[in-house]
Amino acid sequence: VRTVKVIGVGMGEVGHLTGQAVEALNSVDVFLVLEKGADDDLARLRRELCQRAIRSPTYRFVELDDPRRDRAAGDYDRAVSDWTAARAAVVGRAIRTELGDDGCAGLLAWGDPAFYDSTLRVLASAATPECPFEIEVIPGLSSIQMLAAAHRISLTRVGLPLQVTTGRRLAAEGWPPGCDDVVVMLDGDNSFRHIDPAGVTIYWGAHLGRPHQLLVSGDLGTVAGQIVERRAEAKARRGWVMDTYLLRRTAPPERP
Ligand SMILES: C[S@@+](CC[C@H](N)C(=O)[O-])C[C@H]1O[C@@H](n2cnc3c(N)ncnc32)[C@H](O)[C@@H]1O
Repeated sequence: VRTVKVIGVGMGEVGHLTGQAVEALNSVDVFLVLEKGADDDLARLRRELCQRAIRSPTYRFVELDDPRRDRAAGDYDRAVSDWTAARAAVVGRAIRTELGDDGCAGLLAWGDPAFYDSTLRVLASAATPECPFEIEVIPGLSSIQMLAAAHRISLTRVGLPLQVTTGRRLAAEGWPPGCDDVVVMLDGDNSFRHIDPAGVTIYWGAHLGRPHQLLVSGDLGTVAGQIVERRAEAKARRGWVMDTYLLRRTAPPERP
């Protein structure tokens, strides 16, 4: 039976790969890569990672055209599920046509596939009765862990919960109830600007784990402007930036 390995690769440095990930990379016949375009930096990093971590270069890369998500669609959930279905069709076809009956395909997931990564969702819709395959997941270092390590903090405080959410949700719904520690990912718009900064500390990181990593931490009201500036500079320099941050409420919010 065909096997598909979903391999978490951390932030694109060989040093972020676990021993298990290195073994998995070395067992793959065909890497399936959804390309976003020739200038897709992350696709290039994935390729370089394979070149450096794989001992005998008997593997192939198969580039798949990544269907575009309809970013203008009013219904976000619907647009994402249409996009997942379109990607599943592309990936399913590649598993059927590019792999032998006992072949092994690899899909590299940025960070860890458990956090805001569509690979497992896409694979769940890609299987067909005529072409079943087994899925193996190899965990990787997430940007969330990179953030905590870079700032030398724990994300959870004694006995307290942690919420992981998106910038879009923070901006739309404000601070999530029942939690004083919030990790925010997928934020293209500095959504921390929309919350009351009183009593809140922010730990921010961009390009985490890479040589050009940027870190800022401090009282949200004091450092918010600095983060906005540094993020804009980083984006201008490379054309893209990925950032993650922890918002930690250290004093209860004022009640009206
Ligand atoms: C599609 S999600 C993938 C997350 C990934 N699975 C993980 O475990 O980190 C992309 C988001 O992850 C975060 N991210 C990924 N790489 C990052 C990096 N090197 N530095 C900071 N944040 C990063 C950003 O919030 C980005 O918007």
